[in-house]
Amino acid sequence: MLTQWHDDMATGSQAVDKQHKELLRRVDDLLKGAKSRKGAEEIGRLMWFLKKYVRWHFRDEEKLMLEAGYPGYHSHKTQHEIFFREVLRLESLHAEQGDNTLMIVAVITAMCEWLRSHFNKLDKEFIDFLKDTGHNGNGNGAHRESPEGDGEQ
Ligand SMILES: [Fe+2]
Ligand SMILES: [Fe+2]
Repeated sequence: MLTQWHDDMATGSQAVDKQHKELLRRVDDLLKGAKSRKGAEEIGRLMWFLKKYVRWHFRDEEKLMLEAGYPGYHSHKTQHEIFFREVLRLESLHAEQGDNTLMIVAVITAMCEWLRSHFNKLDKEFIDFLKDTGHNGNGNGAHRESPEGDGEQ
């Protein structure tokens, strides 16, 4: 299934993999919501929930890269920005078109392909770098499980 986690996506960092699983879960919630024709309010809520997590996850990775002096930081961050713009685009398409299930499924399908290839290539590359340079890829212990409850909007 499109939104399903596969072991070959594992980056070697338990913390990052956990976040990737949660990210896919939120994409899946949105996909299921769209397919079962939940109302616009519920779809909007699921999109917001996904957007918040995407931003939080990307910031967390970028923090790990900066802390480790990762040379690929800027190009990786650019990829995150491209994906985040896609999440914003989905949100505005939904606002314009209402509950267009086919549109939502099409955008999510493309998003899942992007995520899979990002996890498999760029995320693995930076985790490899972290490990090679003596970082464990799990951060400094201050990492939270999710963005919920920190007041970030
Ligand atoms: Fe990631
Ligand atoms: Fe990433």
